Amino acid sequence: MAATASHDAEVDALLDTLFRVHHYDFRAYSRVSLRRRLAAAVERLGYADLAALHAHVARDGTVFNRLLGFLTVQVSEMFRDPHYFLALRESVVPLLSTYPSLRVWVAGCSSGEEAYSLAILLHEEGLLERTMIYATDINPVALEKAAAGIYPVEAMRAYTTNYQQAGGKASLSDYYTAAYDNAVMSRPMRERITFADHSLATDTVFAEVHLVSCRNVLIYFDAKLQAHALGLFADALCRRGFLGLGARESVRFTAGGDRFADFAREDRIFRKVA
Ligand SMILES: C[S@@+](CC[C@H](N)C(=O)[O-])C[C@H]1O[C@@H](n2cnc3c(N)ncnc32)[C@H](O)[C@@H]1O
Repeated sequence: MAATASHDAEVDALLDTLFRVHHYDFRAYSRVSLRRRLAAAVERLGYADLAALHAHVARDGTVFNRLLGFLTVQVSEMFRDPHYFLALRESVVPLLSTYPSLRVWVAGCSSGEEAYSLAILLHEEGLLERTMIYATDINPVALEKAAAGIYPVEAMRAYTTNYQQAGGKASLSDYYTAAYDNAVMSRPMRERITFADHSLATDTVFAEVHLVSCRNVLIYFDAKLQAHALGLFADALCRRGFLGLGARESVRFTAGGDRFADFAREDRIFRKVA
């Protein structure tokens, strides 16, 4: 779809409807990728143009649910960017272990792979028993998958390399039971994670946490929404708490970024300044 002024006005109108009727706020998402994803939705859902999609989404919740699948990118992996998890294990865990109890917030958790990776890591470092992991997202289908903790066994085999490179101390298969083509995450891992609906665009902070891991989410936001999300993280974090971002994300050049200092710069781990 071309980025003409009239097309931008149509996109604005659709996003206003999504906010007004369905209470999902995509108005401050990066426009380039929104346009691309809306174009894919128009084509794959079989509409003539954006106006036709708009007309249907305004009155049909089913169409909205399908559109949500296009507007939110669900790609995830266990131990994605293994070096990030290795840095958490080697540099952050020793500091977290000084707290008697821990709370971790995985913001934008998609179908749960990042949250389960952290549960496994914290288990292996002897911290899971005293940790509560809150994993949040805006996509209800992804949250349902996450809570079920069921993944294709083939994918788990692929994640094994990531797990090993992330300093895994056992075998990834110790944390799931294979049933036909599926792998079901083990109960001790599932028990420590609460999956919940929460939007970084419209909701407020719900707990004080020691670590926020929000990977590959800010990249979809515009500068203003990125700053808003960083503000939420700073407010949620305890004194000198940790923030982990995705490989292409940073607190630098973002308003409010000065509430954080580099901790493991290459691995995009930051620490709230005192
Ligand atoms: C690419 S996935 C990242 C998954 C995981 N963090 C990872 O790095 O593997 C981005 C996720 O952000 C979620 N998301 C998008 N907008 C959000 C918002 N406003 N609040 C919370 N989550 C959001 C999407 O639904 C999607 O599940």
